Amino acid sequence: MQTPAGKNRMDKRPGVIRPLFNRMAATYDRGNRTLSLLIDQVWRRRTVSALSIRDGQYVLDIATGTADMALEAARQADCRVAGIDLSEAMLGVARRKNAQSPFAGRCFFLQGDGTRTPFRDESFHHAMISFGIRNVQDMDSLFRETLRILKPGGRFAILEFSLPETPVIRQLYLFYFSRVLPLIGAAIAGKKEPYFYLRDSVLDFEPPRALEQRILRNGFRLAASRPFTFGICHLYVAEKP
Ligand SMILES: C[S@@+](CC[C@H](N)C(=O)[O-])C[C@H]1O[C@@H](n2cnc3c(N)ncnc32)[C@H](O)[C@@H]1O
Repeated sequence: MQTPAGKNRMDKRPGVIRPLFNRMAATYDRGNRTLSLLIDQVWRRRTVSALSIRDGQYVLDIATGTADMALEAARQADCRVAGIDLSEAMLGVARRKNAQSPFAGRCFFLQGDGTRTPFRDESFHHAMISFGIRNVQDMDSLFRETLRILKPGGRFAILEFSLPETPVIRQLYLFYFSRVLPLIGAAIAGKKEPYFYLRDSVLDFEPPRALEQRILRNGFRLAASRPFTFGICHLYVAEKP
């Protein structure tokens, strides 16, 4: 079950997370599309739209993975996007997709830890992280680092899984998520490990009210917080004062 305050009991240090996503990279996109029935694309578009990115702005995509969010940002505005991620294999897929996209000159990718980036203070207009914050061991460091690199008034969009609050839907979802999803995932990826990790990390993650409090505690304003698709996913929009 999800811990009420999100105790973050799993080991999510970079040395554990990087090899896990390196092993997952080749089948990551196929797994996402199949398991979400393509709805993840809709969530991503809505998350990027919440930033209202304008032409000429700079956007940081933290835990960029295979670059779906970075490329969506570049599609929505004539902006420049930097994607940072721990996993070289995920970044390999990101760079290939970027090279084949019409936005190749406007997106670049670097390997690194989102809690300790090489960027100067106030260098980005916006930041975003999708399905990434759940995997970060020290979330407060990530928020502090993002606050540092954002310009005043800059927005930080966070898209992450959550659990539905309506009891019947929650029970159905928990059954699907705990019993069915790892099996389908294993059929797609040829291994069960990534999907057991997905299940465990979502069940272990803190609920929306706790993440909202964490956003506020770390110096952001909460500009928006809303569930998507019966609450299986949640969008938070934080704003630097
Ligand atoms: C589930 S994937 C999400 C990828 C992408 N944002 C998406 O929406 O598909 C999580 C990603 O977070 C990255 N990650 C986890 N902790 C990180 C950290 N501290 N700094 C940078 N990337 C991190 C992993 O390497 C992995 O690529």
